[in-house]
Amino acid sequence: MTATHLDSISIRAAAVAPSATLALTARVRELRAAGNDVIGFGAGEPDFTTPTPVCNAAIEALQGGMTHYVPVPGAPDSRSAVADVFRVRNGIECTADDVIISNGGKFSCYLAIQALVDPGDEVVLPTPAWLSYKPMVELAGGTVVEVETGPGDNFLAKPEAIAAAMTSKTKLVIINSPSNPCGTMYSPGQIRDIADVIAGHDRAWIMSDEIYDRLVYGGREHLSFGSLSNVANRTITINGLSKTWAATGWRVGWACAPGEGGAVIKAMSRLQSQSSSSITSFLNPAVVAACTKTDDEIEAMRVIFEQRAGLMFELVSAWPRVTCPPPAGAFYVFPDVSGTFGCTSPGGRPISSASTFAEALLEEAAVAVVPGESFLGCGGNHVRLSFATDEDSIGMGCTRVLEWLGALQD
Ligand SMILES: Cc1ncc(COP(=O)(O)O)c(C=O)c1O
Repeated sequence: MTATHLDSISIRAAAVAPSATLALTARVRELRAAGNDVIGFGAGEPDFTTPTPVCNAAIEALQGGMTHYVPVPGAPDSRSAVADVFRVRNGIECTADDVIISNGGKFSCYLAIQALVDPGDEVVLPTPAWLSYKPMVELAGGTVVEVETGPGDNFLAKPEAIAAAMTSKTKLVIINSPSNPCGTMYSPGQIRDIADVIAGHDRAWIMSDEIYDRLVYGGREHLSFGSLSNVANRTITINGLSKTWAATGWRVGWACAPGEGGAVIKAMSRLQSQSSSSITSFLNPAVVAACTKTDDEIEAMRVIFEQRAGLMFELVSAWPRVTCPPPAGAFYVFPDVSGTFGCTSPGGRPISSASTFAEALLEEAAVAVVPGESFLGCGGNHVRLSFATDEDSIGMGCTRVLEWLGALQD
């Protein structure tokens, strides 16, 4: 029997869909290279440059010869600097030993899920959710149990709904606040209520993805599950350089899990030792610089993001047939575009889904947005727009969408 090319691919790998957001970014790059003036609201990455102290620390370490293997979970001083941030900013009691630094927040999530989830385990996930959690859970053999939320509740799962989704098979609950794609966030009271529910289940861990914790608006307060005494021992907190430090390409993220004698961090470290080994050696001093020397730069970027959030929300709110809750954190708005389904675009394309909406918008108005289907739940009624771009582009892009929406035919 001759094996076909497709037969060669493992069942696991064949089942994984490529990231829709990275695919869109690639398509925008292609269109721009072909000379199209595309306005990109797709990419979830800050347009700022990484703060100078972080860049300088990496350059100096590279030029100083820090180019060899480093300890798997990160150099001691960078783990210690990250632990200090978790302790001081997030109120999480931890030491350097409770921290692992990995190749991006995404890989930190992947390792945490691999460390905890066995085949047959259930993982509770409020949706719409960041699109990588589900494939990661499935790669570990687990099953995602969705808790659906919607614009009516600001995309925030109620504690009763999380309680109803949890069973004796629940191993993990994933919470991402502020949220990608929704741009909303839980209040401290809501975090405490959810923690109380999870504390009642002996087996269940929390993976709290707090990668947007420094990007919050309107004076809102971010509370970390890891700071709450009833769940501190069963919480893995994820963060990293990408969003707060405008360093998406550096591929540096980290996790902290002080509970169970550091068993989860040790397991993640074993997995890392057999996969990526460690982060790039000369980025360790950059992590220290990021954690100790950049508070002013971070706040300056946050203030600009807050202004953009206000501008984007004002402009999107003026779009016909579209509704949108105000952004509270991260750098996304997630409007409901289902009021356009059944219409025909100015270029003659039938609009029947978030994907057909996004495709027609990109081809006809040269504005890139991410269709919401891959974020699960009610995501298929929504598109995600990132405001991690300058105000002129936000203004121009939103005007293009306004005109395009105005020309839709019933
Ligand atoms: C919610 C969330 N978690 C984790 C990540 C991963 O970020 P990175 O791997 O760039 O650190 C992202 C990036 O888009 C995200 O939105």
